[in-house]
Amino acid sequence: MGMGIALTTAAKAALPVMVFDKSSTQIDRGLKLVDSLLAKDVSKGKIAEDEGRMAKARIRVISSMDDLKDCDLVVEAVAENLQVKQAIFSSLSQICSPSAILATNTSSISITKIASSASKPEMVVGLHFFNPVPVMKLVEVIAGLQTSRATLQRARSFAEACGKEVVQSADVPGFISNALLMPFLNEAIMCLEKGVATKEDIDKTLRLGMAHPMGPLQLADFIGLDTCLAIQQTLHRETGDDKYRPSVLLGRMVDAGWLGRKSAKGFYEY
Ligand code: 3HC
Repeated sequence: MGMGIALTTAAKAALPVMVFDKSSTQIDRGLKLVDSLLAKDVSKGKIAEDEGRMAKARIRVISSMDDLKDCDLVVEAVAENLQVKQAIFSSLSQICSPSAILATNTSSISITKIASSASKPEMVVGLHFFNPVPVMKLVEVIAGLQTSRATLQRARSFAEACGKEVVQSADVPGFISNALLMPFLNEAIMCLEKGVATKEDIDKTLRLGMAHPMGPLQLADFIGLDTCLAIQQTLHRETGDDKYRPSVLLGRMVDAGWLGRKSAKGFYEY
């Protein structure tokens, strides 16, 4: 998602972007995706060849987070792990200017909790993009308890400059999107677990009966089963509400390393 956010920022908002990842494999994969998406847009006549080249040239890969020191806005998009995110926000507080906005693309972790590790929590905000970032039209902007109005407004303007529609959510578990999506995905997994129907028929019901672009099991594979599990665990832990309790099958699949598209096997094979 990080590279998707970088591409959208470079191509739609026409802003220079720096990208950092501790894994060079992830960077290489992301850059290949950027090349192929830009090439496709050029070949379809959606953008001129020059525009594609300029968008790519705005993306600079950096080898140290220290290079982020002059950025106006940083978007963290690491895995759903509070400790990892807090360590990053603590480092960013040392590196970045006090006027920089520190945003997180978290799917479910409290913005207020993440901000507690930053030296200026009023500058921390949730900017929740959706996958695939260049295609999905929405960004959910989330205010933590200490997020300032000015930070919220700047985050909103940034998302709009990226060509996105914005919704604003309070800092509740799962925000608007995942509080609604995760029980739905989990219910579909439990249908499969109980033998109500085949995976194909569960997905077909939602695709053809309700005009969803993907069925829920396809969508869970697309998001990543480990990500779905981590989100559901956070929601269940924070609310104690049984509707967020992850199904046993989802946990077992993650134990088996079947993580969906990214591991070539989930509910389906890829
Ligand atoms: N990155 C960028 N663009 C992509 C892409 C990717 N990974 N995959 C597909 N696209 C683009 C294609 O290039 C194509 O663009 P074009 O119209 O300009 O040619 C367009 O999307 C449509 O792609 P396809 O024709 O190949 O395939 P589909 O029509 O089946 O669409 C889809 C693919 C857009 C992924 C569609 O199936 C869809 O909308 N699925 C639902 C996605 C969704 O719900 N996402 C949200 C997940 S929840 C989330 O992210 C939040 C988190 O917190 C859990």
